[in-house]
Amino acid sequence: MNPYLVERLRPFGTTIFAEMSALAVSTGAINLGQGFPDTDGPEVVKQAAIDAIAAGFNQYPPGIGIPELRHAIRAHQQRFYGLDFDADTEVLVTAGATEAIAAALLSLCGPGDEVVTFEPYYDSYAACIAMAGAHRRVVTLHPPDYTFAVDELRAAITPRTRAILFNSPHNPTGKVFDADEVQLVADLARAHDLLVITDEVYEHLVFEKTHIPIATLPGMRDRTVTISSGGKTFSFTGWKIGWVCARPELVTAVKTAKQFLTYVNGGPFQYGIAVGLGLGDDYFAGLAADLRDKRDRLCAGLAAVGFDVYRPEGTYFVTAGIAPLGTAEGLEFCRALPHRCGVVAIPNVVFYDDVDAGRSLVRFACCKRAEVLDEACTRLKALRS
Ligand SMILES: Cc1ncc(COP(=O)(O)O)c(C=O)c1O
Repeated sequence: MNPYLVERLRPFGTTIFAEMSALAVSTGAINLGQGFPDTDGPEVVKQAAIDAIAAGFNQYPPGIGIPELRHAIRAHQQRFYGLDFDADTEVLVTAGATEAIAAALLSLCGPGDEVVTFEPYYDSYAACIAMAGAHRRVVTLHPPDYTFAVDELRAAITPRTRAILFNSPHNPTGKVFDADEVQLVADLARAHDLLVITDEVYEHLVFEKTHIPIATLPGMRDRTVTISSGGKTFSFTGWKIGWVCARPELVTAVKTAKQFLTYVNGGPFQYGIAVGLGLGDDYFAGLAADLRDKRDRLCAGLAAVGFDVYRPEGTYFVTAGIAPLGTAEGLEFCRALPHRCGVVAIPNVVFYDDVDAGRSLVRFACCKRAEVLDEACTRLKALRS
């Protein structure tokens, strides 16, 4: 244990992504662990950032983000969801969704507050809730369909609950919450006067169903902090341009924390993402169709190896059960996998408080070139011998 680390951060060591990516490098394994594409996004988006650098937009951008991007975010929310936000008072540009999540939790939740979220959960949620001094209460999603017990969700809400942290499309399960489920979360938020902090970074990576932003439901716009980013939508995960849309008081609160975290970031990249958000419908449909094919390819390959495959409805990820392969320990399995067959996966147990619920599940990223997915599946066949 590191004696210097403050107590509230002691449960959070090096992220599993860093450990597994380092293992991928040291063993030369195919990295299906961390979720990033192995091809760049649209040329026009890239060129817009290059042009912005060449044109000299290289100093601090405005604290709330460049107007071009804030207006593009406003137009995107209107075009896809019919949501109206004021680009000057209701939109805030952040350093990826990661900073938006951190700033929202730090500014809206404090010591003694509770935040309800579903598990498995994206790993930054637990750390950011802890940094805010708040406590998390989790409700478990159960495979194969990642449904949850409504009573468990009701029971997780107490007089101390401040917010529900809601992620759909959901990492790592690939679940897209359906209309009834989103409605239930909204009803509970209204009934208990809760904020909803919603992480929608996979909003355009949906293969089945339709993504329903919870802010579109009656009475929800004014109690929801909608978070997204350009990383997944435009296949530029390294650019870290994210945003928050919410009513002015909530944006101002989030901005108060955000300004002391990064202040601003990625000026030239903001120009690129602004162009991306204005691309035609064919771009967004093509992105989902391409990833759907990759999802199908990886699911088929993993099933042929003998995994229990939980087919995702969206996102970059496929979860697979390893029990049919003769083991139930996902962490051990993933640490050995690069040595056994040259592939890296993530053990889902790291996304759970209830470790038994995630013990035998592992996550593979499908956002890689077809030949890379095929080669990974060929290598994984060694598990059968
Ligand atoms: C659910 C979820 N939220 C947020 C993020 C981080 O987004 P960004 O790269 O924009 O910070 C990720 C990235 O993997 C994610 O999976």
